[in-house]
Amino acid sequence: MNSGGEASAIKVRGILLEKFYISGGKPLTGKVSIGGAKNAAVAILPAALLADSPCTIHNLPYIDDVICLADILKETGAKVNLKQREGAYIDGSTVTKYKASYEMVKLMRASYYLIGVLLGKFGKAEIPLPGGCEIGARPIDQHIKGFEALGANVVIEHGVVKASAEKLIGNEVYLDVVSVGATINIMFAAVKAEGSTTIVNAAKEPHVVDVANFLNSMGANVKGAGTDTIRIKGVEVLNGCEYTIIPDQIEAGTFMVAAAATAGDVVVADVIPKHMESITAKLLEMGIEVIEGDDYIRVRGVQKPRRVNIKTLPYPGFPTDLQQPISVMCCVAKGTSIIHESLFDHRFRHVEELRRMGANIKVEDRTAIFEGVGGLSGAPVTATDLRAGAALIIAGLMANGVTEVDNIHFIDRGYERIEEKLTALGADIRRVKDGDKPLKVLLGSSNSAR
Ligand code: UD1
Repeated sequence: MNSGGEASAIKVRGILLEKFYISGGKPLTGKVSIGGAKNAAVAILPAALLADSPCTIHNLPYIDDVICLADILKETGAKVNLKQREGAYIDGSTVTKYKASYEMVKLMRASYYLIGVLLGKFGKAEIPLPGGCEIGARPIDQHIKGFEALGANVVIEHGVVKASAEKLIGNEVYLDVVSVGATINIMFAAVKAEGSTTIVNAAKEPHVVDVANFLNSMGANVKGAGTDTIRIKGVEVLNGCEYTIIPDQIEAGTFMVAAAATAGDVVVADVIPKHMESITAKLLEMGIEVIEGDDYIRVRGVQKPRRVNIKTLPYPGFPTDLQQPISVMCCVAKGTSIIHESLFDHRFRHVEELRRMGANIKVEDRTAIFEGVGGLSGAPVTATDLRAGAALIIAGLMANGVTEVDNIHFIDRGYERIEEKLTALGADIRRVKDGDKPLKVLLGSSNSAR
């Protein structure tokens, strides 16, 4: 996306033919600033509709998912003005519709937050089942369980979730699985419900806490976010506020891994080091030097990382969203590394692509076994989802020769100006539109393709 001005989701989603060309083998060096958290932003934007007056949101990442969501919110009648670097203005007082169209909702997973928000605002919501990255079955039964516990009647008809309630009344909700989406969505339905709601076995991710802080800034009464029990006392009115989103744990982790993988030396700035502990711990195990400051982390890689075992878990465990990026390091680590994916069924779809680059990986169900090889070699590869795309970029940065990453619209969903940030760290990465000049002309030239 280009800087400034508004963008439309349709325009953004239309860009399907771009690729990244990466000439690998250069260590990343320098400083990179991390943007606002995607997974907080895609919850906070719809949550702003709960207020009776406008909100201004700062540190919003200007990524495709946010641009797309802004368009979905406009469909409800909300006034949304999304400006890069100036933050977003959202006025939920103009919302009149409790429905959203399939064409928009299918584009992103987080559109499910509109169910909780519109149910909380109007006692009624009709939202098609969400789209998003194909990383396995992504049921919303726990969201529905929560809405029903608050007294809503929920049915799914022709792919549309229809939720309604005369009056939402607080209750205790025990989540059978720790779910970020369900925890946040139930908070949305409960903030204006009558009485108190308790969410037991709640997700503890940093963005769950950020969303709770945002709701409280609008006048809600949410306590315990960040622990496994969240208590919400319903209030009658929520008011607009000004709020700044926390740094993105996953973008920060991606750059930490990219620095380590290229044996580079990078200061990953504007982060909350506490949120990065599980990633820091694994990089240290791999022999990487990680130095924490107050709001930055410096990562200095080594030529040959040590082997590691990783199991993805809800926060504070190792995030599933960084499993694919760090798996690239396992491809070249000394010895055998094992990664177990606990959350999603299909989060090893990038493995086939890494094999094309020379990796030796065996996948058994949700476990991948990596036999470290001497190095990766550049190849044409295809991103199958957002974090798989990030992993393939890191693989390209590490590899000998040129890597061509296809399907980069997935990457644009969650990373703002990733090629600009990497270029500033010394990477040779170009965004190339279909029909642009051939690769050999682009690589090594000073003109960015975009
Ligand atoms: C969110 C993140 C995503 C991240 C994931 C796990 C957003 C927009 N996306 O996704 O980047 O990978 O958390 O940290 O914030 N589950 C159920 N029933 C439900 C809900 C979830 O069984 O009703 C299961 C899921 O299949 C999965 C696990 O619970 O195995 C965790 O999913 P959840 O935390 O809900 O993920 P999302 O909110 O979809």
